[in-house]
Amino acid sequence: STLQNFINAIPKAELHLHIEGSFEPELLFEIAARNSVSLKYKSVKELHKAYNFNNLQEFLDLYYEGANVLLHEQDFFDLTYAYLQKCHVENVVHTEIFFDPQTHTQRGIGFSTVVGGIQKAVDKAKNELGITTRLLPNFLRHLSEDEAIKTFKEALEFRKLFAGFGLDSSEIGHPPAKFERVFRMVRDEGFPVVAHAGEEGPAQNVWDALNLLKVARIDHGVRSVEDVLLLKELALKQIPLTVCPLSNLKLKVVKKMKDLPLKTLLENNILVTINSDDPAYFGGYVNENYIAVAEAFRLTRKDVITLAENSFKASFLSKEEKEEWI
Ligand code: ADE
Ligand code: ZN
Repeated sequence: STLQNFINAIPKAELHLHIEGSFEPELLFEIAARNSVSLKYKSVKELHKAYNFNNLQEFLDLYYEGANVLLHEQDFFDLTYAYLQKCHVENVVHTEIFFDPQTHTQRGIGFSTVVGGIQKAVDKAKNELGITTRLLPNFLRHLSEDEAIKTFKEALEFRKLFAGFGLDSSEIGHPPAKFERVFRMVRDEGFPVVAHAGEEGPAQNVWDALNLLKVARIDHGVRSVEDVLLLKELALKQIPLTVCPLSNLKLKVVKKMKDLPLKTLLENNILVTINSDDPAYFGGYVNENYIAVAEAFRLTRKDVITLAENSFKASFLSKEEKEEWI
């Protein structure tokens, strides 16, 4: 349709993307073969069939398993550049990429191997495709806070490469309060912080991410609609939410796309953005996420423009860089 063409054509930013979640089965098999890593799945098709999740944890189990085939700098480069080429095709002109250092360092892969490969792809995409990128390492919340502190100290060796830090993985059982100390250390070093909250966990986790971790943005945050006072706070402070529609559907955060509280968030003047989260696993990149909500909520061109403008407003681009796009 013409709205689909409009979505494809308009410049957009992506603010919630896990690079390990952009690992397409074809590339996964290719890298596994060249690294002589054996997989539980016999074929791309068989792996693809396993992409049926009842909750966040079932997805995470497969996502961490997939990441195990990444061994060398070249692997991280290939993974990242494949995603950035996808951005180019979809007219995503700016992207803020999450990665999980601990998923790799825990397997004995050097921090420098991971960031070296990612950064080389980022530089190439800037030079050849004109895409701007920010990198945000995320701490795995199912691991201890001491592990996060250790990871942060390693990250400081590469501090100039990072725009901020985040918190991801299993929300249930690992609330924001568990990471208060490390987030204070990160902020004291001058970095903005973000956290996944209110995805599977309750609205209280969003309050705690704001008050205890002092985040600049909330990743997901859809369960904020369960608390009217929280909606008021998010609107008043213009704290962005990086919403991921196809992710929420695939992980059964919502039963149907129409259950996603997008209209409620927009009507409450919240700075909502649309993102892909883990596109290889959830069936779509940024444009597919826009199209899914456009269909479910009968969005107009004006709504699409608002969402795309929000993506730049909510980004970590400088004021001058934002002005190119808004
Ligand atoms: N890691 C990758 N995707 C995630 C998600 N949607 N929630 C929490 N952790 C994640
Ligand atoms: Zn996420």
